[in-house]
Amino acid sequence: MPVGAGDSKKGANLFKTRCAQCHTLEAGGGNKIGPALHGLFGRKSGTVEGYAYTDANKQKGVVWEDQTLFDYLENPKKYIPGTKMAFGGLKKDKDRNDLITFLKESTA
Ligand code: HEC
Repeated sequence: MPVGAGDSKKGANLFKTRCAQCHTLEAGGGNKIGPALHGLFGRKSGTVEGYAYTDANKQKGVVWEDQTLFDYLENPKKYIPGTKMAFGGLKKDKDRNDLITFLKESTA
C-alpha cells in the first residue's frame, strides 16, 4: 500500500487519541503545546510563525509530506534527535498510513 493511502476514519480516531492534546488542525487553530498543523503538507519543518521550536526541529530541514511524516511519526526522537515532542511514535505502518491520510484531508 502506498504511503498515505490509508483509512482516514481510523486516522481521525488516532489523531484524537494520540495527537489532539498537543496539536490543532484547522485554519486559525493556532499553536498549543506543539505547533499548528494546518497547512502541514508541503511546508518546511520548523517554520510555523510564532512557535518556539527546539533548534533540532528548526534545523531539520525536511519538507513535510507523506514519506517524511511516515518516517518521523514512527519514532520522532530518532528522526529528530533533541526534539521536545513528547511522543513515543506509532510503530505500526498501517496506523501511520491511516493517520497521514487523515492529516492530508484535514490540514489542507
Ligand atoms: C505531548 C505533546 C505532543 C503530542 C502528543 C504530539 N506532538 Fe507533535 N509536536 C509537539 C511539540 C512540542 C513539537 C515541537 C517539537 C520541537 O520543537 O522540538 C511537535 C512537532 C510536531 C511536528 C513538526 C512540525 C513542524 O512544523 O516542523 C509534527 C508534524 C507533529 N508534531 C505531528 C504530530 C502528530 C501527527 C502527533 C500524533 C501522532 C503528534 N505530533 C503528537 C508535541 C506533541
